[in-house]
Order: sequence, then C-alpha cells, then structure tokens
Amino acid sequence: MNEHINTKNIVLIGMSGVGKTSVGKYIAEELRMKFIDTDDIIIFNSGKTIKYIFDKYGEEYFRTLEKEVIDSTSMHKEIVISTGGGVVLSSLNIDILKTNGIIFLLEANLNTICNNIRSSISSKDHRPLLEDSFNLRNKIEGIYRKRKNLYLSSADHVVSVDDRSIEDIGDEIINTLRSLYSCG
Ligand code: S3P
Repeated sequence: MNEHINTKNIVLIGMSGVGKTSVGKYIAEELRMKFIDTDDIIIFNSGKTIKYIFDKYGEEYFRTLEKEVIDSTSMHKEIVISTGGGVVLSSLNIDILKTNGIIFLLEANLNTICNNIRSSISSKDHRPLLEDSFNLRNKIEGIYRKRKNLYLSSADHVVSVDDRSIEDIGDEIINTLRSLYSCG
C-alpha cells in the first residue's frame, strides 16, 4: 500500500497481548509514519525494565513515567502511538492523547490474550501485572473487568482482533482513516 494520509496521530489502546505494537508497526510502515511505543520509551529513558521499575519503585511511579511519556509523545503530529495497557487508568492521559490523536481500541477475547501473552518472549520483563502464569486467565479477567468501561469510553473506534492477522487488523484501521479523511 505505502500511501500517505494526512491524519491525526493514530493511537492504539487495549489490554496486554492484543497486538498493539505489531499492528502499530504495520500501520506506520504502510502509511510511512513514525512509530512510537510508550513502554519502549519508558525503558529507554530509564534504562530499566518495566518489571524492575514496578518491583523497585511501585506501580504508581511507573504511571508517573508513563504520563510523562504520553505528554511528550502527544506533542508530535502524524505518528502512530502504541500505548501500555494501563494508559486508560488516567483520564488525563486520554484527554492528552485525544488532542492530536484518534484512538483505536483493539479488543480480544481471553483466549487470544492468554495465547499471545504466553507466546511473547518479553512478557516476563514487560508485564509484571501478569507475572503469575498459573493464574494468568483469572488475572487478565480481573484486570479487564476493572478497565472495560474505561477502554470503551476512551475509544473513538473499536477493532476486534480475534483470529485475524496483523495485516488484516491494520488494514481495517487504515481503511477507517481513509474514509474519515476522504483519501485513497
Ligand atoms: C500494563 C501493560 C504493559 C506495561 C505495563 C503495565 C498494564 O504494556 O505498560 O506492564 O497496566 O496493563 P502492554 O499493554 O504492552 O503489555
């Protein structure tokens, strides 16, 4: 495809394991936009893994770092932003992301999320909230129950990812943008 669409920032939200990073990279490549993963920036800036930050300084401190990264990345224009699953816990994060961006929620069922998390090699260092692989399903269910309304109310568009390829999901988002911005 490799086209250019004059769009706002494309922001991907959703639970861990729904494919935000993979889909974000695909969209960025297709639309020749810059890609930013907010967790990667936190890791890069701090020089520490997310697990280390949670263990040593606690979740609240991680959320402060996350907020700083949301603030700075939201100032950019025409980039693709993949966020951490907990970004919706702060309504301020969402307000800031929406100033320059359009928010797509990636939604998946529990099986998809569990399978993706289990097969991800970086989960251990990246997802301290889902460390307990014995109770993974229950953990995910509990977190999702608490966040579901926040995800839905934050999203401009909802995209289901179950049993779909990265390309298929990414193309749906690109097509939505095309129709919004009457391009293509
Ligand atoms: C988190 C999700 C993780 C990461 C951190 C907290 C969450 O990102 O930001 O472990 O609260 O759901 P992913 O959504 O990329 O797994």
